[in-house]
Formats: sequence, C-alpha cells, structure tokens
Amino acid sequence: MSDALAALRARLDDLREQARSVAAGVDRDADLNEGKARFLGRKGAFGPVMRELGSLDRAQRPAAGALINEAKQAIEAVFAEARARIEQKALDAALEAGRIDVTLPGRRSAPGATHPVQAVLDELVDLLVELGFALADGPEVETEHYNFDQLNMPASHPARDMQDTFYLQGDLLLRTQTSPVQIRAMEDTKPPVRIIAPGKVFRCDADVTHSPTFHQIEGLWVDTDVTMADLKGVLSYFLRRLFGADRGVRFRPSFFPFTEPSVEVDVEFGDGWMEVLGAGMVHPRVLRNVGFDPTAVQGFAFGLGVDRLAMVRYGITDIRYLFENDQRFLTQFARGR
Ligand code: PHE
Repeated sequence: MSDALAALRARLDDLREQARSVAAGVDRDADLNEGKARFLGRKGAFGPVMRELGSLDRAQRPAAGALINEAKQAIEAVFAEARARIEQKALDAALEAGRIDVTLPGRRSAPGATHPVQAVLDELVDLLVELGFALADGPEVETEHYNFDQLNMPASHPARDMQDTFYLQGDLLLRTQTSPVQIRAMEDTKPPVRIIAPGKVFRCDADVTHSPTFHQIEGLWVDTDVTMADLKGVLSYFLRRLFGADRGVRFRPSFFPFTEPSVEVDVEFGDGWMEVLGAGMVHPRVLRNVGFDPTAVQGFAFGLGVDRLAMVRYGITDIRYLFENDQRFLTQFARGR
C-alpha cells in the first residue's frame, strides 16, 4: 500500500474512533443528529477527505474510494446503534413511568339501584300482567280532548278543578291522570279490551304527601259481561296478593266523571285505612265517545297511586324524597351493600 493510501487509512481510522466516542457520549436525539452531522453532514469531516481524493494518483483512487465508503458505512452504523440505544432507553423510561401495580386493590364501582317507585311499579305491573292485562301507553303531553273531554269532563265541568292542571300551549297539557290511555286503548281495539297503563302524571300541587309528578297505573277491562262483581273480585284479589291474603280491603262509594258507579278502595294498615285506588264501571257516555255500544259492552276501570304504596312499603315519610335524587337516599335501595 502506498504511503498516501496508508495515510488516508490512518486518518479514516481516526475519524471512526472519534465518531465512536461521540456516539457513545450522546443520549438525546438532538445531540445525536448534531454529532452525526459533524462527520457525515454536508460540512462534515468527510468534506476535506473527499477533496484530498483529487490529489491522489489516478490509479489509487478506486482503492481510496473504497476505503472512504467503508469508513462512512462504519460511522453510519455507529450512529444507528446509538439511535437504537436512545430509543430503547426512552421506551424503558415510558414503560417504567406507566407501570401498573397489579397488587393494588381495585377501585369499586358503585352499582346502581332500582328506584323504590320503579321497584313497586314493576311488582304491580307483573301481578296485573299475570292476571291477564296487557300493557298500553300514551303520551305524557296530552290534549284536553283525551285528558278531559273524552272522559266525560267537558270544559265547564266542575270536576276539572279537582285536578290542578299544568297547561301548555294551545290545548296541550301535562296529563293529570293515566285515564286518557283508556280512551286511546278503546279507540285502537274492539272489545274485549283488557289493558293496564303505568306512567307519570302531573298536578300543580306540592307538599309532604303531594308531588307535582307522581305515578299511576290505569286499568281497564271492557267486555260483553264485565260487572261490578268482577271489579270487586279482581281488585280484592290483586290487593290481597300484594299485601297479604287476610288484609282488609274496603270499597267506598265515590265519584269520578268517567265511571258510574264509582268507588275508592282502601287497604287496612295496622292502625287505619289507606286509600290506594279509584275505580268504577266505565260511564256509558265514555263508551259511546269511543264508538262502543254501552248496551252491548260494559267494563270497569281503576287508577292506582304507585308512589304512596312505595312510601308505605319502604317507610318513607315525605314524598319529596322520592324525586330529589339525593344519593344518600337512593343508595339505601342498592342491593349487596
Ligand atoms: N283517574 C282517576 C284519578 O286520577 C282515578 C280513576 C281511574 C278513577 C279510573 C276511576 C277509574 O283520580
């Protein structure tokens, strides 16, 4: 090997050595790029080396070129290795930082609870479905037509005052009772009609025992020979299934515009009677309103207050607790606590 080539090789070896020590010393991406540029960049150490190539003998140039390429590749490799080392270090750090201690106790998620009103409602509906009633429903925003007129409560009827109504625009209102679903059901089906309609109702009234929103279950059974005896039989059976076979059940004469005769039904509770529902034989005018012939079909209807039953069932003294969504109240009904 000529002196010139030997000198070039020594110089390249020196560059490789320098590059190795620079690469070993960097541990950030930016430093690595800068270090690499010092050797392989446009203004790097190989610039002068290439220029010297021109001063070599033509015959020596291929060998010199090969030496230079070899050195360049070696230096590339040194920095590639350094890059891999830096990346691995960053990955290790990220893994360490995101480390999960699987021996830590887990965070418990609080299970939801069935709302006491919903629990009682579900129970009542299950029982009535078992007795052969099908579920029906209607809108909470009703028209005067369905909420009042069709139920034999024309505009001038004093009974409209019995229910403090939330009126909306036009002839819309928040239904004050589930009874409009009776009308909708009879308009939709020919007799026999045997439905229940659970849902929210609204009245402008609020104190310990009255909430502006509460829940009713409407019941309606219309067929060719449904009588007052059926009303008494079905409702007594239903209430005794709920409250116990030897529970006192009392029917008191009452008044509703859409039933005749009408009753209110009380259930005996230790020291007294509690009214749980209103009922009666569907008024002939209501039957005619939906196109039924009252000489051919009769029926009974009832409307049951769900919230009060939930209150006695759970010993709740103020109806407002039911609708405040206070977690301290609601979580008491969660199971498994
Ligand atoms: N809708 C009546 C009320 O809210 C209850 C009722 C329903 C009475 C059906 C008789 C028949 O007070």
